[in-house]
Amino acid sequence: MMDELEQDIDKAAEMLRQAKAVVALTGAGVSAESGVPTFRGKEGLWEKFDPSTLEIGNFMKNPLRTWQVLRALFEGSLGQVRPNAAHEFLARLETQGKLLGIVTQNIDGLHQKAGSRVVHEFHGSMEWLVAPRSGHRYLAKDFDLGQLPPICPKSGEALKPDFVFFGEAIPAAAIRGAQELLTRADLLLVVGTAGVVWPASELPRLAKLGGARIIEINPESAMTRELGINDLWLRGPAGELCARLSEKLWP
Ligand code: APR
Repeated sequence: MMDELEQDIDKAAEMLRQAKAVVALTGAGVSAESGVPTFRGKEGLWEKFDPSTLEIGNFMKNPLRTWQVLRALFEGSLGQVRPNAAHEFLARLETQGKLLGIVTQNIDGLHQKAGSRVVHEFHGSMEWLVAPRSGHRYLAKDFDLGQLPPICPKSGEALKPDFVFFGEAIPAAAIRGAQELLTRADLLLVVGTAGVVWPASELPRLAKLGGARIIEINPESAMTRELGINDLWLRGPAGELCARLSEKLWP
C-alpha cells in the first residue's frame, strides 16, 4: 500500500503536468535545508533575537544596535549558503516554461543563485545597502562590515540593508510584479512560509480568486489550509519533496 505522502506526491506531479502557468510563493522554509535559519518555529531567529530591532524607527534611533543584531543574524549564513533541491526544482520549472515566476519573502538571493530569472523579492534583499533619507544605494559586498554601522560616503547617514524592516512599505515594483504573476497563475506553489506576515500572507487568496489551484509544501503547518483555499498539502521538507517531484516529472 503506497503511503499517503507518496500518493500526494503523485497527485502534485499530475497537477504540475496539467498546469500551464505555475507561480511559487516562498518563505524562509524553502532555504532551511540550505542552512539559512527560519524566523519562526523551533530554532527560529525570533526565539533568539527581538524582532523590534528590525523595526525602522528603532534602526533610525540606534543603527549600531540593529547592525550588531544583523551581524549575529546573518553571520556566515548568507555568504556561503548554496541553493537546495527546492530552489533548483523551481528554477527548472521555469526553464521548462511551466513556471511564470517566484514571489519570495526571502532576502538570501538563493532563487537567483539557482538560476531563477523572474523573482520578485517582496521583502527586498541583502544585496544592497541604502541610505534611508538620501536614497543612495551601494552593493553590500563593496562595504567592509567590520566597521558598524556602515556610513554613506555621500550623505554621512548610517546605511541599512535594502530589505523591508518592520514599519516600512513593500517595494511598489514587487507588489506590481506579484499581482501580475498571481492573477495569471493556474497553479500556486506555497513553499516554506508560516503565512503570518501581511501583506505577503494575502497573496495566496489573490491567486485563488483568479482560479488557481494551490499546493502547499511545509513540514509543520499549511497557512492556505487554515484559509480554506488549499487543494493539496505536501507535509514535509521542501528540498526532499521537490527532489521527489523532480524524479516524477523528469525521470
Ligand atoms: N521546508 C519547507 N518549509 C519549512 C522547512 C523546510 N525544510 N523548515 C521549516 N519550514 C517552514 C516552517 O514550518 C514555517 O512555516 O517554513 C516556515 C518558516 O516560517 P517563518 O520563519 O515565519 O518564515 P516566513 O513565513 O518566510 O516569514 C515571513 O517574516 O520576519 C519576517 O521578513 C521576515 O520574510 C520574513 C517574514
